[in-house]
Amino acid sequence: MSTTDDSRLHGRRRFLASATTLAAAASVAPALSYARNRNAPDASASDADVVPFFGEHQAGIATPQQSHVYFAAFDVATEKRDELIALLKTWTNAAARLTQGQTAAPLSNDPGKEPLDSGESQGLPASRLTVTFGFGATLFVKDGKERFGLGDHRPAALVDLPRFNGDQLVAERTGGDLCIQVCANDPQVVFHAVRQFARLSYGAAKLRWAQTGFLSAGKSAHETPRNLMGFKDGTMNPSASDSKAMSDFVWAGSETAWMQGGSYLVARPIRIALEHWDRMKLAFQEQVMGRHKDTGAPLGKTGEFDALDLEANDADGNPVLPENSHVRLGAPAVNDGAQILRRSYSYDNGLSFTAERWPPWHQGMEFDAGLMFLCFQHDPRQGFIKIFDKMSKFDMMNQFVTHIGGGVFACPPGVREGGYVGQSLFGVA
Ligand code: HEM
Repeated sequence: MSTTDDSRLHGRRRFLASATTLAAAASVAPALSYARNRNAPDASASDADVVPFFGEHQAGIATPQQSHVYFAAFDVATEKRDELIALLKTWTNAAARLTQGQTAAPLSNDPGKEPLDSGESQGLPASRLTVTFGFGATLFVKDGKERFGLGDHRPAALVDLPRFNGDQLVAERTGGDLCIQVCANDPQVVFHAVRQFARLSYGAAKLRWAQTGFLSAGKSAHETPRNLMGFKDGTMNPSASDSKAMSDFVWAGSETAWMQGGSYLVARPIRIALEHWDRMKLAFQEQVMGRHKDTGAPLGKTGEFDALDLEANDADGNPVLPENSHVRLGAPAVNDGAQILRRSYSYDNGLSFTAERWPPWHQGMEFDAGLMFLCFQHDPRQGFIKIFDKMSKFDMMNQFVTHIGGGVFACPPGVREGGYVGQSLFGVA
């Protein structure tokens, strides 16, 4: 079977809106073309660089991606509001120190006391460490019961995600009252930070699930990194340096006063059947993605940042960008202009050695690897949900990927010096 046959077999279903609707939608979508990818890792950045912790927005959202992430979701173990606020203050102080390349707390040399920091980051530079905190819906209301006096403060945008086609969410990797996204250019710095947050939370919160991830900066500054499917990932993102795009698509607005300047995070560990993918012909891989593998250019184009041409047909009258290709389904023009800021990392959890393979229908899967999909947005209802609803039903990529967990988190605005994360929610100093 030819590669073209392959792609027809997998990409038969035609469902997209008419050309008229597409053309109308295209006119509302802003131009998304940049000379280089400003959100991608900055290969020229020094590991000694410090990303400021205090500011209008939390770091780790608009920040160019570092090479490592450790995403951790926690459940709060106390029902006392004071203890929750105390935890957030403790975490804030630790984050402010850690992001400067310091230990989580000042160290004493008292041999009779337990050290206030485990110590494995001593001597290491700040490595562009960022710490981004988020609040899950269950922090506000759990099992129908209000918590911490926050019941009326749950933002409408902090929705429970609908069940999407193909979801195989494992309870142990889903949800969480709180989350922390820690990123840095050194995996030991990242692990150290999460370890301190976990330690500092003893008695008040406990780890629920976690996922580490990595990506490699290209040789030149701001080159788009490649994911484990071998494609450049992160090309068409709102540019962090475009303040209008950021306020339209990424930062939360005034709908919920305490969230203004924050952002909503959708996190989804997505397992990829790499062994299956590796057996696909190159042309089919490119049709699935809608982009060329080597350059990252849209099919039919030559430059990575060239705009998608949704109207172009080949000699047989078939769309150059297959209708069920990933980028076509993700394009703002077919999603009423919706955009999200994707900040994902590849993950590798080693091999699956379980007697029963999981997911059971995926034969021959060895690597427990995939994409820790992380995206920030103004409102998930107009962001992730809007885009993924259609993708989850029609994307050719779905035969290779399985969403296995995740959550939605309200990441409050940045912290001012002397304040603590979430202060705008709790309303007390
Ligand atoms: C394992 C899972 C996934 C992989 C490997 C993957 C990979 C890619 C790649 C290679 C691109 C093209 C380059 C780029 O513009 O960044 C892309 C684009 C995109 N992806 Fe994904 N993706 C995955 C999951 C998702 C999910 C769950 C969403 C949910 C909304 C999503 C939304 C998008 C969007 C919006 C674009 C940009 C489309 C455009 O405007 O051109 N992706 N993805």
